[in-house]
Amino acid sequence: MFSCGPAVGVNSTPMTTLTLRPAQTSDVAGIRRLVQPYVDTGALIAKEAVDYFEAIQEFLVVEERDDAGDARLLGCGALHILWEDLGEVRTLAASEEARGRGIGRMLVEALIERARTIGVSRVFCLTFEVDFFRRMGFEVMTHQETLDPEVFAELLRSPDQGVAEFLDLARVKPNTLGNTRMIRALGAPEPR
Ligand SMILES: CC(C)(COP(=O)(O)OP(=O)(O)OC[C@H]1O[C@@H](n2cnc3c(N)ncnc32)[C@H](O)[C@@H]1OP(=O)(O)O)[C@@H](O)C(=O)NCCC(=O)NCCS
Repeated sequence: MFSCGPAVGVNSTPMTTLTLRPAQTSDVAGIRRLVQPYVDTGALIAKEAVDYFEAIQEFLVVEERDDAGDARLLGCGALHILWEDLGEVRTLAASEEARGRGIGRMLVEALIERARTIGVSRVFCLTFEVDFFRRMGFEVMTHQETLDPEVFAELLRSPDQGVAEFLDLARVKPNTLGNTRMIRALGAPEPR
């Protein structure tokens, strides 16, 4: 399990080191470059630069550094808190050339650890990557989660798109077509 506090270095190849660390404001340009191909295909939602700056504290990044000290981002992902017991993994991406190297798993495990630390017991995601998230212990939501009507009413007050997606509101359906709503209860054993 990787810590999501200070940076954690992992030997990647003999020539490079992978580091998982909290994002900094200077990462926003790199995060935007990383997610752009997935925004173009519709896998991720387009956001403005200001949205990334506002949410930068939610993000973790995986950085690869070579012997010469040159660094590039290979992955990013964010944990957004929706309610007392509920978080959402959002804007999770591994760069196209780095897919299949465990970057996505590294990020999800660290975001789940962050969720536990914050006190969240369920983590939601909306995704086309159903098989990947199944590997990460998420299950497809076959029905609307049972919510206290008062909590439901409170959540309806939010302008956040992720909240609307969790509630499966009609107004976000055009944006979420083909996506699958998935959830992981954090009490569940670690998947492998
Ligand atoms: C989803 C995504 C982040 C996965 O990143 P990744 O670094 O390629 O995934 P990993 O290498 O960590 O894979 C972890 C496990 O999932 C499996 N896996 C990954 N993608 C998979 C897929 N499409 N189908 C089935 N299994 C998959 C891997 O085989 C691996 O299994 P293992 O650990 O048991 O060997 C990446 O594919 C991506 O950026 N997708 C586009 C953006 C997106 O849709 N994000 C999700 C919306 S929030």
